[in-house]
Amino acid sequence: MNITVIGSGYVGTTTAVVLAALHHRVFGADIDSAKVAKLKQGILPFVEPGLDQLLAEMLKTGRLVFTDQIEAAIQASDIILIAVGTPPRPDGTADISFLMSAADTIAHSINGYKVIAVKSTVPVGTNRWLADYLSRKIGDPSLFDLVSNPEFLREGSALYDSFHPDRTVLGGISQRAIQLMKDAYKPLIGRLLVTDWETAELIKYASNSFLATKISFINEMARIADRAGADVTQVAKGMGMDRRIGTEFLQAGIGYGGSCFPKDVKALIATAKELGVGAEILETVERVNQTQSDLYLRKLTEALRGTAKEPWVIAVFGLTFKRDTDDQRESPAIRIVEQLLADCQEIRILDPTVEFPSQTPWPDERKVVVCQTVEEALSAADAAFLCTDWEMFATIDWGEAARCMRTPILVDGRNLYDPETIRAAGVRYLGLGRGGVP
Ligand SMILES: NC(=O)c1ccc[n+]([C@@H]2O[C@H](COP(=O)([O-])OP(=O)(O)OC[C@H]3O[C@@H](n4cnc5c(N)ncnc54)[C@H](O)[C@@H]3O)[C@@H](O)[C@H]2O)c1
Repeated sequence: MNITVIGSGYVGTTTAVVLAALHHRVFGADIDSAKVAKLKQGILPFVEPGLDQLLAEMLKTGRLVFTDQIEAAIQASDIILIAVGTPPRPDGTADISFLMSAADTIAHSINGYKVIAVKSTVPVGTNRWLADYLSRKIGDPSLFDLVSNPEFLREGSALYDSFHPDRTVLGGISQRAIQLMKDAYKPLIGRLLVTDWETAELIKYASNSFLATKISFINEMARIADRAGADVTQVAKGMGMDRRIGTEFLQAGIGYGGSCFPKDVKALIATAKELGVGAEILETVERVNQTQSDLYLRKLTEALRGTAKEPWVIAVFGLTFKRDTDDQRESPAIRIVEQLLADCQEIRILDPTVEFPSQTPWPDERKVVVCQTVEEALSAADAAFLCTDWEMFATIDWGEAARCMRTPILVDGRNLYDPETIRAAGVRYLGLGRGGVP
């Protein structure tokens, strides 16, 4: 089949590469010509393990082409997948303007029957509205069918997730379009759920919101464990042994971030309100997440006030919202650095995806320094704050660190370390809910 994927971001590029690997002819289309130029040369504009190799292979086959000539790509295709961003507006609702502009491009270039599938995460009701919008714009409703096809891949394991999806959800009213989508994904479809548009849209929001709820739940347990002298990592382990609960998304820490959970929880709250329904659980999930990093910051400030002279030098380990991605969108580490800036003389960032200050939100802030090594970041530092559990941080020699830091204090924002081992190395360990009083 000939398939155009509109939007060459994390989702669109992965999807285009995977569909090319399934032997389709794929156009990866984007309005960002600089991004397209990079992708044409096999350069990934973001970090995603394994994707660069498969991208290079697929480009070589000639089955995968990146282009900013979106109209021509649409005209040459049987299926158009939309994978443009749907960022949050200031009021928490999803901004669907990129989706609308992609729909306009499709409407004025359509030249025959196409299946249009929305992979972007869009509020409940969007596909129904879009079908009507496209019908009016195109003038001939028989020229297209619309399918809601929410995406569930995770940054950091996007390729694995795409080749081994837990489920494929297809929402729509046209059997012809659903069948074409099934054919396109055929070897990858394990568990398939065919629904109406609204249900497919809500499955995506409900899934992300539920995972965010698990994270805020275990973070609340960490708060309780902290006061009670219990170890939240063992609490999570014990809970996870129950198959009804499972172990995933029960890692307490500084809170969730990224381009999906924060915006999707906010958007679902907004949808609930629009529909006149309360969203008490989700509002609390968000509130717990918003305040979680404050608890770590408070512990750090209290520890520093007693031992180190202001203004402090703090090493911040990890800026991305999780490991194995370069995505800093809504990363709790960003909020932490923002809050530390007032009391610090220097904040030293160490992250394997950050080489220059221009890759941080503070390109002109002289207090923010980008480091290349652990030693550079820790030398005469007053504390280290682990924000992202990149593998490189798991193997730090904290005995060595204790010798080169001014005041050896470690805030473990991801429960990466064993508190006893860190303390034995001569470093004061600060965590939340790690048993005993630090
Ligand atoms: N990133 C994830 O892990 C993930 C996972 C599941 C679902 N999603 C959802 O998928 C969607 C895309 O997310 P992403 O992270 O890949 O976004 P992204 O910001 O990385 O990429 C979006 C791309 O769309 C392009 N674009 C915008 N308007 C366009 C237009 N009119 N025509 C062509 N290209 C256009 C942009 O230039 C950009 O390259 C969002 O709705 C997101 O919520 C994301």
